[in-house]
Amino acid sequence: MTTRAVVVGLGHYLPERVVPNAEFEASLDTSDEWIKLRSGIEQRHFAAEGETTSDLATHAAKKALAHAGLGPNDLDAIVLATSTADLTFPSAATMVQSAIGMTRGFAFDVQAVCAGFIYAMSTANALIVSGQAKRIMVIGAETFSRIMDWSDRGTCVLFGDGAGAVILEAQDGVGDTSDRGILAVDLNSDGQHRDILFVDGGVSTQTTGYLRMQGKEVFRHAVEKLAATATTAMQSAGITSEDVDWIVPHQANIRIIQGTAKKLGLSMDHVIVTVQDHGNTSAASIPLALSVGVERGQIKQGDVIVTEAIGGGLAWGAVVLRW
Ligand code: UT7
Repeated sequence: MTTRAVVVGLGHYLPERVVPNAEFEASLDTSDEWIKLRSGIEQRHFAAEGETTSDLATHAAKKALAHAGLGPNDLDAIVLATSTADLTFPSAATMVQSAIGMTRGFAFDVQAVCAGFIYAMSTANALIVSGQAKRIMVIGAETFSRIMDWSDRGTCVLFGDGAGAVILEAQDGVGDTSDRGILAVDLNSDGQHRDILFVDGGVSTQTTGYLRMQGKEVFRHAVEKLAATATTAMQSAGITSEDVDWIVPHQANIRIIQGTAKKLGLSMDHVIVTVQDHGNTSAASIPLALSVGVERGQIKQGDVIVTEAIGGGLAWGAVVLRW
């Protein structure tokens, strides 16, 4: 018998304010056409003044609990992926724990920027497989609008705010690819590339800083590394592209999403795409896309899903699971 971490509920939340590309035309030398053509983004959501990452995460967490038909104390743990926590400490995860009324278990944040949700899923899977926890809420939540340099047209038009949450539960499997739940994980990072995507501030410098990115350089790494990590994870799960129902990629740029699908030999009919509506929400983008994919009726129980992401670090990885 094999213990598997199976998704039993999910939900997402987007802040009310929708910002279409055209809004940037007033303050920047940019256009709706350029943004759409180069990134696929049409709009994004921005958190209201005073609305924090843990607020967005709490909304998503409550929806996931309702979707699973569970109460807060049915959870053993919360693992929250973010690079934009409300405060230096405590973790955003403990803020969510208190906000949803969870009075037991443990909660902590994981920081791997845009790959954060993949790292958090991997961590939660390890906790479940090792028997340390039976039910874990995994959240990706971000307010990247707080770290934008609004004079940098190369970055500020690309990112958005949001949150998504999934609940993983320990279930018995037989140990082959017919099992529901997480079948394989692949994680990678290479700090040699830390200068092509970073925030130029932090606690030690006593500033918040702004996101800085050499977009072309990140792009250059993205397709190749995403296809490689997805392939490694599929191989370790014992599946091939032909077995995959959905790729649920990190939603940074439609051209990266298309390039990766092509390299994996899958048509865009097998890809969940939300980048046009959400922009790049960093660690929130995959759980948002999973939740939207379920809502749209695209993702169904039993489907084989490959999720993959890359971001600052560089850090990248993939998770293969059966829904
Ligand atoms: O989630 C973390 C991972 N991040 C990513 O995956 C992002 C990866 N990178 C990208 O998505 C793309 O590189 C961008 C969307 C950021 C940029 O697309 P690109 O096709 O690589 O454009 P570029 O940076 O080479 O810029 C082309 C031109 C430049 O002008 P010149 O030098 O050719 O005259 C830029 O200055 O476009 C200019 N440009 C803009 N023009 C209008 C850059 N930003 C804008 C803008 N509006 N917002």
